Amino acid sequence: MRTVLMTGAAGGIGTRLRRLLKGAYPQLRLSDLKTPPDLAADENFVAADLADLAAVEKIVDGVDGIVHLGGYSIEGPWETILSANIVGCYNLFEAARRRRVKRIVFASSNHAVGFYPRSRRIGIDDHVRPDSRYGVSKAFGEALGALYAFKHGLRVTCIRIGNFGDAPVDRRRLSIWISPEDLLQLVRIGLDHPDIRYEVFFGASDNARGWWDNAEAFRYGYRPQGRGEDFRDSALAADAKLPADRVGDWYEGGPFCSDEYDGDEELSSR
Ligand SMILES: NC(=O)c1ccc[n+]([C@@H]2O[C@H](COP(=O)([O-])OP(=O)(O)OC[C@H]3O[C@@H](n4cnc5c(N)ncnc54)[C@H](O)[C@@H]3O)[C@@H](O)[C@H]2O)c1
Repeated sequence: MRTVLMTGAAGGIGTRLRRLLKGAYPQLRLSDLKTPPDLAADENFVAADLADLAAVEKIVDGVDGIVHLGGYSIEGPWETILSANIVGCYNLFEAARRRRVKRIVFASSNHAVGFYPRSRRIGIDDHVRPDSRYGVSKAFGEALGALYAFKHGLRVTCIRIGNFGDAPVDRRRLSIWISPEDLLQLVRIGLDHPDIRYEVFFGASDNARGWWDNAEAFRYGYRPQGRGEDFRDSALAADAKLPADRVGDWYEGGPFCSDEYDGDEELSSR
């Protein structure tokens, strides 16, 4: 990989990851709707709206790989999700095909599978169960990735990010947390590993309470260093202050599941 584009570079993950990626990919091009407030003099930034295909074609021109973090990162009104995450994601993949980009690493989410009960361990062969319009947009991105990989020859890695940060901050996050360094490992596998064609990984550190079988990522050499249990006491203390949430505490997606919930009284055990 010579030139790598990062979308969503002004966001929470982009801000951390672009510093970590700099050493590995000196020709890093950054993009977002808005200029990162902490942009350094040696960083190369080009603003673009993902919903504008012509603008997206310009930012992908001449790049070998893309780390696609840009988009609306929580639940939102349909029009917002449609524009940033559905149209935006399509534009990104289509522009990459037209400009012959080789690889895309797509920031998917645990919310693509949020409606599995926490009692169940799932792998990447379990079908999607989005917990929100946002989660649907991530499942859509994973499907687009498969289309562009198998039909057009792009090499695509989808990372279902759990929760990114320096430490897990509550009980749910003890199961799904990923450290910045561990996410960097997964992104680098997606950008560089010679055997990648189309893969879905779970973006989680080494969490003893994890719900996901991440065998595929391990097969590619992923060796997470972060351990959620190291933060057990602080996370559980913070959790004790949260109100009970019958639906959200049952399913993996947490509050994304209980938000707008008017389903059956009986929660699924399958
Ligand atoms: N933070 C997490 O724990 C987490 C978990 C799962 C998935 N993800 C995914 O990872 C990615 C990055 O997450 P984050 O926490 O940094 O989110 P964030 O909201 O902090 O950053 C997203 C960035 O995308 C940009 N953006 C939004 N709409 C855009 C558009 N139309 N065109 C161009 N740029 C646009 C925003 O300006 C923002 O800077 C997102 O796709 C998110 O869905 C994050």
